[in-house]
Amino acid sequence: MKLNLQNAQLEMTAGNAKQFPVNGLPQVAFSGRSNVGKSSLVNTLLSRKKLARVSSVPGKTITVNFYRIDGKMYIVDLPGYGFAKRPPEDVAKWSALTDGYFTSEYSEGRLCAVVQLIDLKVGVTDDDAMMLEYMADAGIPYIIAATKCDKLNKTDMTRNLQALAEHPSVIEDTPIVPFSSLKGIGREELWNEIHKFI
Ligand code: GTP
Ligand code: MG
Repeated sequence: MKLNLQNAQLEMTAGNAKQFPVNGLPQVAFSGRSNVGKSSLVNTLLSRKKLARVSSVPGKTITVNFYRIDGKMYIVDLPGYGFAKRPPEDVAKWSALTDGYFTSEYSEGRLCAVVQLIDLKVGVTDDDAMMLEYMADAGIPYIIAATKCDKLNKTDMTRNLQALAEHPSVIEDTPIVPFSSLKGIGREELWNEIHKFI
């Protein structure tokens, strides 16, 4: 699929599942804990500075954001999880929205793959493991973007990438792309992996 990335719009910021756009366009969803660098990664992928809002307060908004790319597909920015100070009503809203996205008939056949973001320095958190296992159980294919790789030297980067690949919650042979929005690392490679699914 050829995509003109200049032609990208935020089509819907959905606070509940009823607001999800209903059409047959393929979707690639982006998932990860709060502050993992998801909005920055979406901006980097689309070569935009601020199409997706980069927050100073992590996990402030609990919405599913649909970016329509060249009228051909959606990039779906799922709400971040695992933010410690989050009140219970936020957790409930997160669960309802995320479940609504993954399990509703809505996503069936349209969700091509998930890009699961994992902070390369932090590694797989308990919440990440839960998400990875959820996707494995549901049969949802995923790609891992190992974010903020600029924070590590080469030795630590190699070691942490290997630990990620060998983590018990990560399916064998999962594509793992080291990524840095700060340095612009991994953009082409991640697009290549995404294109295999759409
Ligand atoms: P929420 O939407 O709040 O859940 O966060 P998010 O996952 O969308 O992360 P966001 O892109 O807003 O970035 C969170 C913080 O990490 C910001 O302070 C960014 O500047 C920083 N950050 C994002 N990407 C990178 C990166 O590649 N390298 C480094 N060093 N910092 C980054
Ligand atoms: Mg964000």
